[in-house]
Amino acid sequence: MPSVFFQTFGCQMNVADSSRIFDILAEKGFVSAETAAQADLLIVNTCSVREHAEQRAKTRISQFARERRNSGQKLWVIGCMAQRLGERLRDEVPGIDLVIGAKEMEDIRQRIEEHLPYGSECTAAAEKSSVTDFVPVMRGCDNYCSYCIVPYVRGSEMSIAPEKVEEQIEQKIAGGVKEITLLGQNVNSYSYEGCDFSDLLSRAASIDGLKRLRFTTSHPRDCSEKLVRTVASLPNVCNHFHLPVQAGSDRVLSLMNRGYSSGDYRSKVEMIRTYIPDADITSDILVGFPSETEEEFRQTLSLVSDVGFTTAFMFAYSPREGTAAASMKEYLSDKQKKQRLTELVNIQTEITREKYGQMIGKQVDVFVTGRQDRHDKMWMGQDNGCKRVLLGCNGAEAGLILKTRVIKSSGMTLIVERV
Ligand code: SAH
Ligand code: SF4
Ligand code: F3S
Repeated sequence: MPSVFFQTFGCQMNVADSSRIFDILAEKGFVSAETAAQADLLIVNTCSVREHAEQRAKTRISQFARERRNSGQKLWVIGCMAQRLGERLRDEVPGIDLVIGAKEMEDIRQRIEEHLPYGSECTAAAEKSSVTDFVPVMRGCDNYCSYCIVPYVRGSEMSIAPEKVEEQIEQKIAGGVKEITLLGQNVNSYSYEGCDFSDLLSRAASIDGLKRLRFTTSHPRDCSEKLVRTVASLPNVCNHFHLPVQAGSDRVLSLMNRGYSSGDYRSKVEMIRTYIPDADITSDILVGFPSETEEEFRQTLSLVSDVGFTTAFMFAYSPREGTAAASMKEYLSDKQKKQRLTELVNIQTEITREKYGQMIGKQVDVFVTGRQDRHDKMWMGQDNGCKRVLLGCNGAEAGLILKTRVIKSSGMTLIVERV
């Protein structure tokens, strides 16, 4: 049987796309290869969000091309960088057999069928062991935050019909999945013939067999009271809001075209905590945006200290060709950006440590996701928010929700025992 090996970079949307492509290939008789060397087909799913992300993908593509064991092995490059660079990528990195851009995901089945090196059709179902999976509810983005390449490589925003979303979830549950994360660049602007995101969430949450439901990303501008109330009222929807703030200065937020002020953001956080006091709120933060002053950077640090994110993804600004910010004058050197990033990371790491530390002694419901590789006696899982958990006990099994107590925190992981 032909086999395929995936290397996926970037966000959860890419993970979902890779998994969808794998499902189509599995219908064609493909199995998953354990290593790249063994695979008949190599697929690199790429990200364009920062220069570094593209560099990493290019390095991996070149390596795959170089180490190709025979001419029969095919190399496909898909995703956001494939969209941005298109056929240019094949000149830059020799050895690529096929480039499929992120915007072509809509007709991906057809594209695959046109280019599949092996004709065999077979009905072997994909082996899937994961108890947690992603379901996109929308594609693309119309927000045009001035620093961001996503609207250019993913195209304009399009909501997927609620019936289709439900069908996807049901299929996954039938395959053993117990937890679903609904995906979109800005789920709060979901809209399909009168069904908004809160309505969709309620519909999805009521599907039989779904133990946990999550969603990401919430754009702070569009995060509504209705959504927060919906999350609060549905027991199987996790108490986690990924609410990227990006910056703490109003001038920078406005240059970023985010559509909210730092005051608006703080109010949203307060609203979430009024309805769901123990909700985990996480964020993306960007430092070194063109013309960001030291004082403005300090405003980001104050906001971070005041809000207390459970965790945050933090980045140094990376100019992306074709975006509005790329034509703004950059005042900061890479070194200055890095310094700001380090300072921010140190502060947030301390806050994360505190947030995890505060959990010691508390009871938490843990969703078990699987065994930890290195420690075969330990199980990994997640609490009802976003916190990582390790559980050392007999009787655990992927997909179960167990009542536990936190006995220790290792900074970014809770160690729990069953009660
Ligand atoms: N749709 C999500 C973000 C998707 S991109 C949202 O609106 O929040 C993920 C994160 O990458 C962004 O939140 C931002 O913090 C970061 N990012 C995007 N473009 C970037 C750039 N040019 N340089 C550095 N970080 C960037
Ligand atoms: Fe990028 Fe903004 Fe869209 Fe997020 S909302 S994907 S940051 S343009
Ligand atoms: Fe995601 Fe990167 Fe594309 S963040 S949408 S994979 S540019």
